[in-house]
Amino acid sequence: MRSRAPIYNREEREKLREASRFNAQLMDFIRPHIKAGIKTEEINTLVHNYTLDHGHVPATLGYGGFPKSLCTSINEVVCHGIPGDQELVDGDIVNIDVTTIVNGWYGDQSETFLIGNVSDVARELVQVTFDSLWAAIDILTPESKVYDIGRAIYDYVKPTGFSVVRDFQGHGLGRSFHQDPGIPHFPDARYKRDALRPGTCFTIEPMINEGHHGTEVDRTDGWTARTSDRKLSAQFEHTILMTEEGPEVLTLTKDGPQRGHKF
Ligand code: MF3
Ligand code: CO
Ligand code: CO
Repeated sequence: MRSRAPIYNREEREKLREASRFNAQLMDFIRPHIKAGIKTEEINTLVHNYTLDHGHVPATLGYGGFPKSLCTSINEVVCHGIPGDQELVDGDIVNIDVTTIVNGWYGDQSETFLIGNVSDVARELVQVTFDSLWAAIDILTPESKVYDIGRAIYDYVKPTGFSVVRDFQGHGLGRSFHQDPGIPHFPDARYKRDALRPGTCFTIEPMINEGHHGTEVDRTDGWTARTSDRKLSAQFEHTILMTEEGPEVLTLTKDGPQRGHKF
């Protein structure tokens, strides 16, 4: 896959850092609210207002017709869940995916939350998904290829018996939401020659399924992607800037799970 990923200069990298810094702050703001009893629509209102109050723009609102200011993906929902009337209940797992436009630059990240007491398999799935993201971050160097990311995630997940989603991938970002390079989370030989040169900015956002890797998009709303077998799915996402010194994780939060966190 020949990639046309932009290489960002010093000033542009500062803009990217600022956007991700606010996005991480937004995640820190919303985290304490992700509890049993809250409706996903209420999460949307909180995220929307916090973003506007700080003078920024929720990137998903109106993006390709998406109707809300974040994605909330519960249990068997793989990604792109639309906030609505559904209440979080004990035992759920829910991915909260927030994206902001700050002075024209994008930041994008997500975390999966355990609501109250969850099943052993749900906890294990969330742990493996989180650790697979860090397994990929940990192998990154300025010499890495896009392919290496999917290789690292797949090799980490395979022995657990869980599966890596193929229908959605990470992406470059900067002054647009989804741009080159595409970042598959499984080993895709087409990406063996795509370099992640210093100055490239991209997301890694593995979606890991309890059962089969297949997904299907809701035919009514056109967005909600579910596992084809209706078993659980989890996801974590960070925005990463490759520098001459190695990867910089731009969306690390102050209060959120750090590398090595145990759920
Ligand atoms: N934040 C998602 C991502 O990680 C994209 C959501 S696009 C939407 O790429 F339209 F579904 F909101
Ligand atoms: Co993303
Ligand atoms: Co996202």
